[in-house]
Amino acid sequence: MYRIAVIPGDGTGPEVTREAVRALEAAAESAGFDFHAHTFDYGGDRYLKTGVVLDDEELEGLKAYDAILLGAIGHPDVRPGVLEQGILLRIRFALDQYINLRPVKLYPGVDCPLKDKGPEDIDFVVVRENTEGLYAGTGGFLRKGTPDEVAVQESVNTRKGVERCLRFAFEYCRRRDQGRKLTLCGKTNVLTYAWDLWERAFKEIAAEYPDIATDYAHVDAICMWFVKNPEWFDVVVTDNMFGDIITDLGAMIQGGMGIAAGGNINPEGTSMFEPIGGSAPKYTGKNVINPLAAICAVQMMLDHLGEREAAGMVEKAVMRVCAQDLESMSAGRMGKSTSEVGDLVVKYIREQKG
Ligand code: IPM
Ligand code: MN
Repeated sequence: MYRIAVIPGDGTGPEVTREAVRALEAAAESAGFDFHAHTFDYGGDRYLKTGVVLDDEELEGLKAYDAILLGAIGHPDVRPGVLEQGILLRIRFALDQYINLRPVKLYPGVDCPLKDKGPEDIDFVVVRENTEGLYAGTGGFLRKGTPDEVAVQESVNTRKGVERCLRFAFEYCRRRDQGRKLTLCGKTNVLTYAWDLWERAFKEIAAEYPDIATDYAHVDAICMWFVKNPEWFDVVVTDNMFGDIITDLGAMIQGGMGIAAGGNINPEGTSMFEPIGGSAPKYTGKNVINPLAAICAVQMMLDHLGEREAAGMVEKAVMRVCAQDLESMSAGRMGKSTSEVGDLVVKYIREQKG
């Protein structure tokens, strides 16, 4: 019996989360396991009503769950940053979800903006460090508000933090077993402290994984290669900021925010799974947003929980919808509503039973 915390969040988060939970129910029933979902109202509306973003007790409470499913965070009436930092980043940091795992996989039937590239070319995973780097929040102002103002934003890279991220990437690459190639994405030519540490640790750990080929690419160059030669990549490991940037590019080449999902992972604790896209407030309640990204987040969650069969069922169902049923991946152009896409996924999961 799994205990799942569900945070539908803001904007269109609740409507895509609803379909994701239905897919989870269908997968659990078909694969034969049980779960209990507890829904939390954390997000912009609650903050506007109560002034509370996420308090210490609530944060602590989340640790009791086997996994968290998050819809989307971001509200037009709340100053940008408040909810992102107070909910999303706070959970990532406090629950020590030190990996942000972002698969970039183009399913057959999904439109790809890259000319002459297809599903056989686009299938890699980005392992993004998720608790350090420029996201650590250290730095400060000097002489703020004066013409002589100084703003410093520091990138924090600890040997421990870098090493656990790299080790996860090597292990993941081995387990995935699809080419066994790990690419470090950095900026060793300019950021000579942070990336010196990363590169040294990478080389040292690589010696323990003789079965995995290693490679290195600068972050600017990788933006070029993701577009020109995405087939070169199997697993890419990088820091928090670079990972944030290159995974938006990754999401676009796999068909966009309608399909891209990610996992914030603490291998020893509670992990959180989410569609990568935002809360898209202008579409709220319109039943037009693609729920597949949230459903793919469920697939990642099941895989993480060790429910491989159920995860496989969800992925097959998503692939079938992509191949047969959708005109486009984007909001309002699917040719189907949010709930109709959810219905199809549930139907296709059930059909795999027995
Ligand atoms: C993401 C988002 C977040 C990030 C924001 C909303 C804080 O862009 O999950 O990639 O920068 O990590
Ligand atoms: Mn991002």
